[in-house]
Amino acid sequence: MTAAAEARDLFARIAGVEPAGTWSAPGRVNLIGEHTDYNDGFVLPFAIDRRTHVVAAPRSDRRIRVASTFAAEPVEVGIDDLDALFPSAGAPRVPEWAAYPLGVAWALQDAAAAPSGVDIAVASDVPIGAGLSSSAAIEGATAVALDDLWDLGSDRPTLARAGRRAENEAVGAPTGIMDQMAAMLGRPDAAIFLDCRSLRAEVVDLGFAAAGLEVVVMDTGVTHAHATGGYRDRREACERGARILGVPALRDLAPEDLDRARDLLDDVTFRRVRHVVTEDRRVLDTVRTLRSAGPTAIGPLLDASHASMRDDFEISVPELDTAVEAAREAGAIGARMTGGGFGGAAIALTPRERVGAVAEAVASAFSRSGFAAPRVFTVTASEGARRDS
Ligand code: GLA
Repeated sequence: MTAAAEARDLFARIAGVEPAGTWSAPGRVNLIGEHTDYNDGFVLPFAIDRRTHVVAAPRSDRRIRVASTFAAEPVEVGIDDLDALFPSAGAPRVPEWAAYPLGVAWALQDAAAAPSGVDIAVASDVPIGAGLSSSAAIEGATAVALDDLWDLGSDRPTLARAGRRAENEAVGAPTGIMDQMAAMLGRPDAAIFLDCRSLRAEVVDLGFAAAGLEVVVMDTGVTHAHATGGYRDRREACERGARILGVPALRDLAPEDLDRARDLLDDVTFRRVRHVVTEDRRVLDTVRTLRSAGPTAIGPLLDASHASMRDDFEISVPELDTAVEAAREAGAIGARMTGGGFGGAAIALTPRERVGAVAEAVASAFSRSGFAAPRVFTVTASEGARRDS
């Protein structure tokens, strides 16, 4: 059964009324620009052809009930209880999966004149924990649904911000805005070049299909959680670097500033800063290269990005490095881990005729290293959040 059909089925089971509509939002792959978003920098993600589907209808009371194929039981709360559910410090008082849609309702309710209760059913075919932002897909699908049901008329950045607020304050993961903007703005065969300071977005044609290229996703199966641990630590190192160097954000540094940074910072903080500064530059170079020379020319930038994440930002893991190396040896023109790191997936930009060879090479490298079998599949750049019916 498709995820859309699962969501319809689930809705029929919990609500027993006709749905008012169905909405969906995609996961994303970040082509390049990692850990630059919360440094006010540049990113180049694209929405993928894996989506989260939401089926919903308003209720006559002020209760919100969410059900998901991830959980046996729906969660039901009053709209007036949302504030108390998400204490600014500490874990949410609902199961984590429910904090995403309820967090979006909490973030959007202030904009609504008189928000009605709502029944929401969620199902998804975005792999979870793979670094493909299944969370932004849930947030995006819920945000466009509530925007319609509550008649908010919000623009896309406003809905993206509501998703980010859910993630930061309801779930407690200190992430940036990239994933939510990608889920909102995605376009077929194009990436979104986003300035995370101004939120100015440009659509950049990828031209992968015309160039005979596929994006192969290699999901390591190593799970990561951005609410804890390494992600938060990297973010703090970036903020410390910016403070010591006297700039509002690392975005305000150019590669020429790195000599001064090396003198002022300890080695670890310096390498975190160098990753962000050089990664911002690689995003700009990738956009320029896509436009001037086409997608077959961006491989070295993807490779350099991976090396910087592995050596300077230190967010890769052996499984990701193995996937990237095996893919390149089997004919990928460039490969890098994508997303927050510490697990999740890597991508390999691969000539169509080498996709099978890349999948086999990655699987056998994993087996030789004693790693659990990876999931390898291709994705295409697709449309952002939308109403489907
Ligand atoms: C996660 C976060 C994003 C971004 C990436 C790293 O996906 O949700 O905001 O910081 O990690 O680029």
